[in-house]
Amino acid sequence: MDGPAAQDTGWLTQERFGMFIHWGLYAAAARHEWVQNRERISPQEYRKYFDHFDPDLFDPPSWARTARRAGMRYLVVTAKHHEGFCLWDSALTDYKAPNTPAGRDLLRPLLDAFRAEGLRVGVYYSLIDWHHPDFPLDGLHPLRDDLDARRREAGRDIQRYADYLHGQVRELLSGYGRIDYLWFDFSYPGSDWGWARGKGREDWRSEQLEAMVRQLQPEIILNDRLDLGRGVRTPEERQPGRGDAAGLGVWEACQTMNGSWGYYRDSAGWRSADELLRTLIDAVGKGGNLLLNVGPTARGTFDAEAQARLEAIGAWMRLHGRAIYGCGASTHRPPEDCRYTQGNGRLYLHILAWPFRRLRLEGLGGQVAYAQLLHDASEVRWRDDGADLSLELPPRAPDVRVPVVELFLRAG
Ligand code: GLC
Repeated sequence: MDGPAAQDTGWLTQERFGMFIHWGLYAAAARHEWVQNRERISPQEYRKYFDHFDPDLFDPPSWARTARRAGMRYLVVTAKHHEGFCLWDSALTDYKAPNTPAGRDLLRPLLDAFRAEGLRVGVYYSLIDWHHPDFPLDGLHPLRDDLDARRREAGRDIQRYADYLHGQVRELLSGYGRIDYLWFDFSYPGSDWGWARGKGREDWRSEQLEAMVRQLQPEIILNDRLDLGRGVRTPEERQPGRGDAAGLGVWEACQTMNGSWGYYRDSAGWRSADELLRTLIDAVGKGGNLLLNVGPTARGTFDAEAQARLEAIGAWMRLHGRAIYGCGASTHRPPEDCRYTQGNGRLYLHILAWPFRRLRLEGLGGQVAYAQLLHDASEVRWRDDGADLSLELPPRAPDVRVPVVELFLRAG
């Protein structure tokens, strides 16, 4: 459905690769950003993270540099996650970074630093809120089993909360310069979750919210989690299949490095740099984006595991960026263990498993003017039988994580 919000997503589909940052009080708990929900932590008890939130090593320019060097071209950062804590100096709440030991607005310097590195900036805002006194005790709320809280529930007024939500979005879109992307999360309408009470567009007044967003920042891109049936699709922790992807319109897969969006100290589930890189190639090869998450620590640093992965991806991106930026799906069918991306008159063959000497490209006979390995621009020769091309590859795989052959397509 493409209602009033048919939007220009040109830069997003050009840039293809972004950094997601989940940073809030949950970084101090260091065991998933849903810790408050999972462990049913009351606001009083959760307060210890607020009182001790002191990111003394927070260095926004170094975060921005790290993102740029990883080849990322845009940022989406959690201004407020489900816990309700605000990174910016909101006039509408005391539950914000300036009132913690951090003592200042943490969002502004972050956005400025990423802009200074030439990246686009986006803001994530959680529609659900476990801190606001008017947010209902639904089945996700940390106080869902607290009988005392339940008895007093009638005092909670979702419309008052919606006013707060609208006011905060207004602050973010009027006081922080140009915001390129607004990433709402999330609505759960209907009874999908068994216990839901129809959270969604009526509760958030989504239409009105969307209209305000567009009025404040006409160029902004919106994602699809307002329950309006439009916006950039955001499959989470899963890559759509080739067929599904074609029907999604503009989409962006968001992925963690280790199964947690917030910093998770004891994570044993780190995905390798190779896997993450293949996920990026897979997304672009299916016409989508990848928004790859980092969960910084409560001291304000990227941990070594995340850092190492970003560096490894960056090393590949420096040599292979042009097979990603401005590229999308190809109509050609790649051989086994390969992916295609295509753009700017070139077809990129990403070889996930190195074959011995020859690789047959179906249906490309007569269509290629020149071919080279992308990382070192060394010629790749081929035989053309009229229908297919048979590439002659070096016997030893090049020393890059995923070798790419760049095929210059004949015009017309
Ligand atoms: C979710 C989660 C969450 C994360 C996000 C990213 O629905 O609630 O913690 O921020 O999606 O897609």
